Amino acid sequence: MPSVTIQSPAKLNLVLDVLGRRPDGFHELRTIFERIDLADSIRITQRRDNLIKVECDHPQVPKGPGNLVVRIARHLMTDFQITQGVTIRITKRIPVAAGLAGGSSNGAAVLLGLNRLWRLNLTQAQMMSYATALGSDVAFFIAQTPYALGEGRGEQLTPLKGMPKLWHVLVTPKVKMLTKDVFKALAEQRLVGKLKLTKKTDNVNILLPFLRQGKLAQLGSAFSNDLEPAILKLRPDFCLLKRKLSDAGAIGVCFSGSGPSVFALAESKAHAKAIVQKFDKRFAQVFVVSTF
Ligand code: C5P
Repeated sequence: MPSVTIQSPAKLNLVLDVLGRRPDGFHELRTIFERIDLADSIRITQRRDNLIKVECDHPQVPKGPGNLVVRIARHLMTDFQITQGVTIRITKRIPVAAGLAGGSSNGAAVLLGLNRLWRLNLTQAQMMSYATALGSDVAFFIAQTPYALGEGRGEQLTPLKGMPKLWHVLVTPKVKMLTKDVFKALAEQRLVGKLKLTKKTDNVNILLPFLRQGKLAQLGSAFSNDLEPAILKLRPDFCLLKRKLSDAGAIGVCFSGSGPSVFALAESKAHAKAIVQKFDKRFAQVFVVSTF
């Protein structure tokens, strides 16, 4: 049967500014996305019947409509009157519910893959519209750019060109953290004012020149994430994780998205590997990753 195989990479947020709560319940964000080379692999194979089947060895990956890949396949089948279903095999490498947008990336990969397999000829604008309906982070992976500024819920994207490749150590504690729980904790801390009432530092524009010029020391100090107090409220012990990475020689350390993944900036691949050596891997997965 015809099939396509697609790589489904993860992302980091170098800056995540939460500007306020919107009338629709989502939060208005300004973020800098970096696509990294830690990736799942997805193989989509045409079926003779009309079912959508997900195959994945990871116990925490939903096999039903809880998985974005099923929702996107269903949407496309209905909208384009497709009568044959697909088997979607996900080989998972990106930790689940970890602030790395693995699920969103898988949704985007299946959207791109089905566009090819079913020869739908979707325009970039049509794909963006499906992506935005699915979730806040899906659009970044449709944009197919190493770096982008994300605004709105994170779905309004401006690709950032001419930025250097970075090396990181990525540490993901072996616990799940749900995005909605972290935003709820943030609201409970009353740290989010109504839109436009809070005037805050423009962390995006502080970081961008350092990124563009590859000034690593300043770049590392400019990493920031407004969800950090909420993540630490749920897991105060994760403060230690950041400190351990700094002590191991990392240039800058920050949570990605809604956590619990923490990433560090390294000077080079060799430097990243040296940091990993010093790191205790009993409670966390530890990766060396770079911009992709
Ligand atoms: O859009 P996505 O499915 O990634 O969002 C998961 C949850 O995270 C939302 O239901 C919402 O509670 C929260 N969220 C938010 N503001 C955003 C993105 C996500 O409040 N910009």
